[in-house]
Amino acid sequence: MKYDYDYVKLSADYIKSIVHEEPEIGIILGSGLGKFAESIENPIEIKYEDIPNFLVSTVASHAGKLIFGRAGGKNIVCMAGRFHYYEGYEFEQLVLPIRLFKLLGVKKTIITNAAGAVNTDYNVGDIMIIKDHLKLTGASPLRGENDDRFGQRFFDVTDMYTKELRNIALECAKESPLTFHEGVYMFFTGPQFETPAEIRAARILGADAVGMSTVTEALTAAHCGMPLLALSVMTNMAAGVLPQKLSDEEVGIAAAKIADNFGNYVRDVISKL
Ligand code: HPA
Repeated sequence: MKYDYDYVKLSADYIKSIVHEEPEIGIILGSGLGKFAESIENPIEIKYEDIPNFLVSTVASHAGKLIFGRAGGKNIVCMAGRFHYYEGYEFEQLVLPIRLFKLLGVKKTIITNAAGAVNTDYNVGDIMIIKDHLKLTGASPLRGENDDRFGQRFFDVTDMYTKELRNIALECAKESPLTFHEGVYMFFTGPQFETPAEIRAARILGADAVGMSTVTEALTAAHCGMPLLALSVMTNMAAGVLPQKLSDEEVGIAAAKIADNFGNYVRDVISKL
């Protein structure tokens, strides 16, 4: 059993020797959404590369550090920079962030990501509160020998995107100038953006947005009984929707535009969780 309780405990014990306040809320920030991290009060930063048994971030738009501190009146831990399958990690390795949150004492997790809008009623800059996902490619991060200390071999995922947290997110949405939807996120492995045909298929299957992250973390959260809220920022219309090419630049520009409002929203949600 490679990435089991004892493996993660080494990372957690190192962090606990530096940070003495237990974080209540864990947050994972998506591409271009790192600005929220700048607003964390009394921050203590730990670089991923300094954490034993942890992974390192290889994507330029991801910072690669854990930040402990306060936001929305709560103790939080924030991952500025996350890990994706397309970076070359095995699915099994992608359990590590959420398992680390669990051993640090995190009670609820918020995941954010940049995504392409498949639903043509959505616009760039809108936020989608994820209510379910489709993952038809790749293995499960929970593949391999099960560690019962985290959760059961076979586990339910019907409330993986926890209804109670989604309701809080919808309430907070009323106070935000941003536009919100509830929808289905479809995972693609990347790093290439999807083909227009894949996007048409995704739409027929019921997807509202597509992206290359989040589902591995969501499945790990469901396995260890961690309540989860996941928020997608529509940084572009998905492939083939508009007569133009997709680019990482476009993703960064759209994310930067909503960064302040999104940060305020996330802080509001944290305060009400
Ligand atoms: N597809 C996949 N991942 C993404 C996209 C997209 O269109 N936009 C931002 N992340």
